[in-house]
Amino acid sequence: MSLKIRKRLNNFRYLFTGGSNSGKMADGHPVLEALLKRRSCRRFTDEPISDEALSAILEAGRFAPSSVNLQTWAFITFTHEEWQETFGTKIPFNANRAIVVCSDVHRIGRILTEFVTDTLLSHTMAVFNAGLAAMAMTMAAEGLGLSSVMLSDTGKSGLLDIPFLKEKMHLLEGVIPIATIALGYRKTASTGIPPRFQKRDVVFRQKYGPLYREDLDDWYQQMKMGYKLTNLTSTFENKLRYYLSRFNDAEAALQKAVFKKTDHSEINNRGENGNRKK
Ligand SMILES: Cc1cc2nc3c(=O)[nH]c(=O)nc-3n(C[C@H](O)[C@H](O)[C@H](O)COP(=O)(O)O)c2cc1C
Repeated sequence: MSLKIRKRLNNFRYLFTGGSNSGKMADGHPVLEALLKRRSCRRFTDEPISDEALSAILEAGRFAPSSVNLQTWAFITFTHEEWQETFGTKIPFNANRAIVVCSDVHRIGRILTEFVTDTLLSHTMAVFNAGLAAMAMTMAAEGLGLSSVMLSDTGKSGLLDIPFLKEKMHLLEGVIPIATIALGYRKTASTGIPPRFQKRDVVFRQKYGPLYREDLDDWYQQMKMGYKLTNLTSTFENKLRYYLSRFNDAEAALQKAVFKKTDHSEINNRGENGNRKK
């Protein structure tokens, strides 16, 4: 068999296994197993989620870790009727409930007056924390036998549609919708694993690199093959082109939402502890 064909077959195999080599380690370890087996779900049944289950999921978010315990997040929940009423559409993929996860520096800006909220640093911190809460909620859902998909594009659900979401949900300054977690009971078993970079491309010891060109090429091939398997009429390149076409507007809207009023030269004049220089 030629090297080229062997490579193609290998790439194909990877789509179904993810090339995971921690499978044995996960056996009998429910948390690790859940983390490795979680897959985004894009087909849900009509079965409703109980209020108790949703409430438990939200608690997992509320108890997530955050820098200086600032809890820079807000979670806005929707039943499918509420989503329809607010946005005029269905929750994508027939999901039963949705949680819009926002980064939120508004709250701490009100309490901690020395905290400058419209900086890249505070925004990045808030988004990182909100992401941790989102993952905690996603895994809580898995633990309760539910499935989910995080969305920041499909169905005007996050970062790419900030002005729309801010208006519809009456978001205050400093509250930025990052992604929606669509939740429900899975209709069909997930097939395959969206390709992951090889461990040696993302895990390093002591210092960054090296990167292997052939691993990067393999990953891109797998992305293209994987996309084709589930979207016979389109290509990964087309999808990427569409996504990128939305970037400029989304970037402008995000910049406007993050950097609004502070005279940043004033922040630059702050002393070592963040206090205004006398
Ligand atoms: C922040 C974020 C935004 C995402 N946005 C979308 C989206 O708009 N539409 C979609 O179908 N999937 C979306 N996804 C799901 C990713 O495509 C998915 O996580 C990735 O392909 C890996 O697959 P897996 O979750 O099944 O492991 C998003 C995931 C994250 C974390």
